[in-house]
Amino acid sequence: MSNVKLNAAKSVIPLIPKSGAIGLGSGSTVAIFAKELSRQIAEGEVDVSVVPSSYQAYQLAVDYKIPLTNLDLNPSLLMTVDGADEVDKELNLTKGGGGALFQEKIVASASEKLIIIVDESKLVNHLATRFEIPVEILPFSLGVVRQKITSMGITPTVREAQRKMGPVVTDNGNFILDLKFPEPIRNPAKVAVDLKMLPGVVETGLFIGMTDEVHIGMGDGTRIMKKG
Ligand code: 5RP
Repeated sequence: MSNVKLNAAKSVIPLIPKSGAIGLGSGSTVAIFAKELSRQIAEGEVDVSVVPSSYQAYQLAVDYKIPLTNLDLNPSLLMTVDGADEVDKELNLTKGGGGALFQEKIVASASEKLIIIVDESKLVNHLATRFEIPVEILPFSLGVVRQKITSMGITPTVREAQRKMGPVVTDNGNFILDLKFPEPIRNPAKVAVDLKMLPGVVETGLFIGMTDEVHIGMGDGTRIMKKG
């Protein structure tokens, strides 16, 4: 198990509310957090239920015996703990490396606080430096969305599945386009709106102004970046 990811996961344990509903993000760092959370629940330290942000998060909750809830029963969540693929200095994020960006953003939007757990390699000056920006699109719209994005000077690639022929099909039955920008993004809020305005784009992996805290796992502990 990665020590830096474990340090990031453990760092947010004191922030978990004593009771109530929280969001459970997706990814390998969140998987480590889920195990820590299940221990807290089993030891009676906290009494929380989670809204999962993906099938992976749902499976984690089932495997670790974490009580499940949903956004119909709990449309307001006390917090969400999630990972990220890139974090800039304003705590804007690129997410969607695991293809779960759509539900992740909905769960984050329902949360009073969005707490991100990452390792140091995820920190960048500007988004799209190391990671392509994923967008989830309706399969019916692929041709037209791809053409429009290309005409914006951005190179889209349909994300291909591993160990299955053809495109990745998301938890929502959609495709993912990974967008290669000619250079890192200087105005991610505008890019997020421009992309979201394209009919067929159901969500982008740009999480702008949503993050409250980033817990960065290091070899010898954790560094915390806070909003504002
Ligand atoms: C999934 C995500 C993940 O949170 C992101 O890819 C980070 O994952 P990891 O902790 O495995 O690096 O956005 O869609």
